[in-house]
Amino acid sequence: MTERETALETQGVTMRFGGLTALHDFSIRVHRGSIVGLIGPNGAGKTTCFNVMTGFYRPTEGKVLFEGRDLTAKGPHEVCREGIARTFQNIRLFSNETVLQNVMIGCHVRTPLNWWETPLPFGVGAKKEKEIREKAYHLLEEVELAHLADECAASLPYGAQRRLEIARALATEPRFLLLDEPAAGMNPQESQKLMAFIRHIRERFNLTVMFIEHDMKVVMGVCEYIWVLDYGVLIAEGAPKEIQADPRVIEAYLGEEAVADA
Ligand SMILES: Nc1ncnc2c1ncn2[C@@H]1O[C@H](COP(=O)(O)OP(=O)(O)OP(=O)(O)O)[C@@H](O)[C@H]1O
Ligand SMILES: [Mg+2]
Repeated sequence: MTERETALETQGVTMRFGGLTALHDFSIRVHRGSIVGLIGPNGAGKTTCFNVMTGFYRPTEGKVLFEGRDLTAKGPHEVCREGIARTFQNIRLFSNETVLQNVMIGCHVRTPLNWWETPLPFGVGAKKEKEIREKAYHLLEEVELAHLADECAASLPYGAQRRLEIARALATEPRFLLLDEPAAGMNPQESQKLMAFIRHIRERFNLTVMFIEHDMKVVMGVCEYIWVLDYGVLIAEGAPKEIQADPRVIEAYLGEEAVADA
């Protein structure tokens, strides 16, 4: 079997906040094109891990490499331009802007307007703005939100807001997408649809997807590979079947009932 290409790699990442070690000596490799999961109990360090990978936190120790390039010292905007996009555990939309404008904001990462190209009705700025509007609209079609383009973002139901946040992340043209609890607050039908949606966007946009999720049906249903954190320490990794059968994971997180249900 040929070695699959690595998209993202962490090497011995440790993140301390004062006396608290939120993440300890965390080393993983994510294969390009895969859909993978990061799970563990509340406070285990999952979001911290995403914050380190996306430049929101600079790790106390260790490195983050993306396609072989060292991202450790880069800030969120630089990481985004490198091709990593994310969504947030607590949805972060521009709630007073329209659905379309929220996606257009993401597009500006790839098509920045120069200061002399202010979007007046004429000239280069207006042309770029029109292109961005069209690109944003196409993305809304992809996530089945185009019919709501002119609605205020805050007026959308919860599941739609999550899809809008994903559309905005896609607007930055990522190769690697991180989703922090995408199924949170969704009913079983919505999370079922979400699984199909994650698979669809992986194919459609040629992505590697990593997500954090507490809904085990979603995690086990869609992930090829899973890492499990507990108190900042990686306690297990493997395919869904191995994770479900791992006594340490059952004790720390899944519980006997979840395993009986699966
Ligand atoms: N900026 C910060 N300053 C201080 N402590 C922090 C900071 N960010 C995270 N922590 C702490 O690090 C630990 C891990 O938090 P993190 O948010 O990564 O957990 P999580 O696994 O995402 O949990 P949840 O499932 O509840 O979202 C927690 O004890 C948290 O309080
Ligand atoms: Mg979290």
